[in-house]
Amino acid sequence: MNKPVYYKSFRSRKFQEPEKPKRSALDILAVEKDIILDVGFGTGDSTIALQDMFPKYKVLGIEAYKPGIKNLLSKNIYVHYGDALEIIEKISSDTISQIYMLFPDPWQKKKHRKRRLFNEYTFRVILAIIKRNGFFHFSTDNISYALEAKKIISRVTSVDISFSKNRGFRPITKFEKKGISKKNFVFDLIYIKQ
Ligand SMILES: C[S@@+](CC[C@H](N)C(=O)[O-])C[C@H]1O[C@@H](n2cnc3c(N)ncnc32)[C@H](O)[C@@H]1O
Repeated sequence: MNKPVYYKSFRSRKFQEPEKPKRSALDILAVEKDIILDVGFGTGDSTIALQDMFPKYKVLGIEAYKPGIKNLLSKNIYVHYGDALEIIEKISSDTISQIYMLFPDPWQKKKHRKRRLFNEYTFRVILAIIKRNGFFHFSTDNISYALEAKKIISRVTSVDISFSKNRGFRPITKFEKKGISKKNFVFDLIYIKQ
C-alpha cells in the first residue's frame, strides 16, 4: 500500500505563514511522556476540547491548514504545521497515548482516493507509534471511507473491529456538525493497541 498523496490546501493562500511554534513537534515528543495527537484538526476546536478534557496529557495538533495553526498557537497548544505523515513517520515506536483522526477529507471521487489520509500505509505507521493500551480513534460520516477504514484496521491487526456504539470521549467537531445538519450518519472506530 502506498503512502497517501499529500494534498496541500490552497485555502491557506490568503493567510500569512503561521508564526513558528516555540518548540518543534520533535522537541515536544522528546520531552513529554503522555501525548495525544489530533491529526488534521481543521480549525482546532477538537484539539482545544481534548486539551481541556485531558489536562494531564499534552495535546499536539497536526494540520496543513494555516488558520487552524494560528488559532492553536494563540491558545498555547502544541502544533505541527505540514503533512501529518511526514512528522508521524519520525515519531518513535510505542510513545503516543491517543491518536485522533476526526473526519479526514473523504475525497469522494475515485481518482482522488489516493489522497485519503487514512490508508493501510498510514495505519501501519500510526499503529507503530501508539503505546500499549493506547488507542487510535477514527471518525467519518462517509460510509465508503468508514468501511474501508474498518477493513484496513481488521486486516492489519487481525482483530475484527466493529463500529463503536457511540463516539466515546471524543469531542464533536466542526466538520461533524455540518454532517449532522445534513442528517449524515457518523461512524467511529476505536482501536486499542494490545
Ligand atoms: C475535513 S477536515 C476535518 C477537520 C476537523 N478534524 C473536523 O472534524 O472539523 C480535514 C482536515 O485535515 C487536514 N489534512 C488533510 N490532509 C492532511 C495532511 N496530510 N496533513 C495534515 N493535515 C491534513 C485538512 O487541512 C483539513 O483541515
